[in-house]
Amino acid sequence: MKIWLDTAVIEEIRELVSWGVVDGVTTNPTLMYRAGARDFKKHIIEICEIVAPGPVSAEVISTDAEGMIREAEEILSWAPNVVVKIPTIEEGLKAMKVISSWPNGRINATLIFSANQALLAAKAGATYVSPFIGRLDDAGLVGMEVIRETMTVFRNYDIRAEIVTSSVRHPRHVTEAAKIGAHIVTMPPKVLRTMIKHPFTDVGLKRFLDDWAKVEAAMREGQAGA
Ligand code: E4P
Repeated sequence: MKIWLDTAVIEEIRELVSWGVVDGVTTNPTLMYRAGARDFKKHIIEICEIVAPGPVSAEVISTDAEGMIREAEEILSWAPNVVVKIPTIEEGLKAMKVISSWPNGRINATLIFSANQALLAAKAGATYVSPFIGRLDDAGLVGMEVIRETMTVFRNYDIRAEIVTSSVRHPRHVTEAAKIGAHIVTMPPKVLRTMIKHPFTDVGLKRFLDDWAKVEAAMREGQAGA
């Protein structure tokens, strides 16, 4: 399963890429705002350089197909690993149809909340489909069901678009998505940092180091007595 970071914070991306487990990055207008981005193009290009050759999603803000296509052409020219994020609405499907016919037309269909939306986006040519599971959970629904259903539909028809489990809130979402076989999980840095932690690991490490200090003390005593 591929791990993507769902953030636009450059320092976080740089640090977590150094762990050797990050395969890509997703951004959106909210994440760009939170990261304090001042220059969209420069910011995305910098992320693309850090993550290369992993894919980096950058979102259009137009809501009509023509505008989305115009923005996509610009965004896709920024880096060989940039992916254009298109909202999964009627105009978005029209845009996906056109963009997916380009040689560099990499598309992440975003704001997906049902397997039907994922199916339509894949048919329109999306490379990636992104169901937002956390937002469904927040509304009292079971977001992971959408991942499960989309996996089943894609397997039934050998659909090649990859499923990006998105809007992830906690490490359990990651485990569940991996058990289902989702291709990708995009997660906030906080979730990735939580995944590596276990209290038993910390306790175990402390005990090893304490005991090793005793071994060293005994060795020093042995040398002094010789
Ligand atoms: C995915 O690509 C989106 O950027 C993201 O997962 C949205 O998640 P949120 O519900 O935390 O805003």
